[in-house]
Amino acid sequence: MADIIRKKQKGTDKVWFYTSTVKDHFINPKNIVLDDKIVEDMHPNGEGEVGSPACGDVMKFWIRVENGKIKKCLWKTFGCASAIASTSMLSVMVTENGGMTLEEAQKISPKEIMDRLGGLPPVKVHCSVLGDQALRQAIKDYKSKQQNKNVPLT
Ligand code: FES
Repeated sequence: MADIIRKKQKGTDKVWFYTSTVKDHFINPKNIVLDDKIVEDMHPNGEGEVGSPACGDVMKFWIRVENGKIKKCLWKTFGCASAIASTSMLSVMVTENGGMTLEEAQKISPKEIMDRLGGLPPVKVHCSVLGDQALRQAIKDYKSKQQNKNVPLT
């Protein structure tokens, strides 16, 4: 069981609970873009961008697909700590063990991401959807580019 961190919501009596895994991914996010140069250096072949209707925050996601698997990914957000932790975990999930196939990555659900994080406060569940949706857009973009080049999807 992950350790639990309490955070008092500013200006209210509400307390949100975060796991230590969420805290770790927020403080030390994996595959995050802090300098746009690393996106260029990765040579992404798919990219996606979505905005959250719930809060107005934005997420960008880039993938590098090789031999049908997501070998690398990067992301950038103007979202909150939960969005950062969720997308960091998502980026680990799609690239670990040699990378997921596009079909496997498309099946990842926000619940699976939250399970790996040990949960999120209910009010923050919508934040975990941002990375997932941006990833789907990036996969769609990759497939569209491949079809335009008449390259068989691998
Ligand atoms: S509140 Fe907008 S992404 Fe979390």
